[in-house]
Amino acid sequence: MAQLFTPFTLKSVTLKNRIAVPPMCQYSAVDGLVNDWHRVHYAGLARGGAGLVIVEATAVAPEGRITPGDLGIWNDEQAAELANIAKAIKEAGAVPGIQIAHAGRKASANAPWEGDDHIPEGDARGWETLSPSAVAFGKNLPKVPKAMTKADIQRVTEDFVAAARRARDAGFEWLELHFAHGYLAQSFFSVHANQRTDEYGGDFTGRSRFLIETFDAVRAEWPQELPLTARFGVIEYDGRDEETLSEAIALTNILREKGLDMLNVSVGFSTPDSNIPWGPGFLAPVARRVRNEADLPVASSWGVEAASVAERCIAEGDMDLVMIGRAMLADPHYSYRLAQQLQVEKPSWVLPAPYAHWLERYRIGE
Ligand SMILES: Cc1cc2nc3c(=O)[nH]c(=O)nc-3n(C[C@H](O)[C@H](O)[C@H](O)COP(=O)(O)O)c2cc1C
Repeated sequence: MAQLFTPFTLKSVTLKNRIAVPPMCQYSAVDGLVNDWHRVHYAGLARGGAGLVIVEATAVAPEGRITPGDLGIWNDEQAAELANIAKAIKEAGAVPGIQIAHAGRKASANAPWEGDDHIPEGDARGWETLSPSAVAFGKNLPKVPKAMTKADIQRVTEDFVAAARRARDAGFEWLELHFAHGYLAQSFFSVHANQRTDEYGGDFTGRSRFLIETFDAVRAEWPQELPLTARFGVIEYDGRDEETLSEAIALTNILREKGLDMLNVSVGFSTPDSNIPWGPGFLAPVARRVRNEADLPVASSWGVEAASVAERCIAEGDMDLVMIGRAMLADPHYSYRLAQQLQVEKPSWVLPAPYAHWLERYRIGE
């Protein structure tokens, strides 16, 4: 029996299998609003058979968008459209999740296929970016952010809370806080970005404060019975990996005690000067260590899509869920391919009946 196709329960939510579609920005919105692209994209992914589909990084404030095309959840109109996405995902048989995000100093950028760099100064499409300190990321993202005042910090925390409330009211059943990838929360945690000398910087306690306060505030708003998760870059591959990982695990333990239900283990991406050992499942041993030392369920991604790798990650206890991204863009029914390859009985039935019935009879591609 393939372990990948066993159910997974977290709080009151049960996923039909261990496959999740991770958040993947589409950079295709105007004013943060869902449009036909997102409607088709998310319904298609949810029909493909994954247990969980997490909607892309959705900005909690306009200045928290990575690009002008990011989705937003800072107003009710945006939330009403997102509610239709949550409904479509659920009707297709997956659990609807959403990642809420603030891009910090990496905001105000062009889409990846339009340069993947900061919108130049003076271009009306751009905006002032926020970060713990006035330190640019560098390389393709040279814009110097505004060092946040305490009022800015408090406002962004409130933006996260309002976003969580709107996500709940929109029908999402799984919330992921974006604390990773060099965006705002990761920047507070990272010595590469945080040079503050007040209580939001300095030592581990100071650099963790924004993440803990934001988590606490969201926890008070998000229903207790629904999973509250975070994506967190626990390692930077910058030469100080043991220190970063130990601190990240310590913070994860604190957040777990405060009600974090799962960690989506990822890379920090806080500096352009990293040396990431890309390769199939390269993050699996890191995920396993977090799972063991922080004693909570974990998910992870980055090259875990091969059937043998995905199955091993679950069966050997590296992680509780595999997040499969790009392979799902190539083939939204990728879960069906995995079911075929892992010789699940009646693999087509990971898909909805109007597809499954015909594929089971003819076994396309086997
Ligand atoms: C088009 C695209 C958009 C992405 N957007 C996000 C995002 O919104 N939030 C996030 O945490 N990660 C994002 N990522 C990273 C993915 O969630 C995932 O971790 C990554 O693609 C690695 O998994 P894979 O090897 O299965 O593709 C994005 C990746 C891609 C390819």
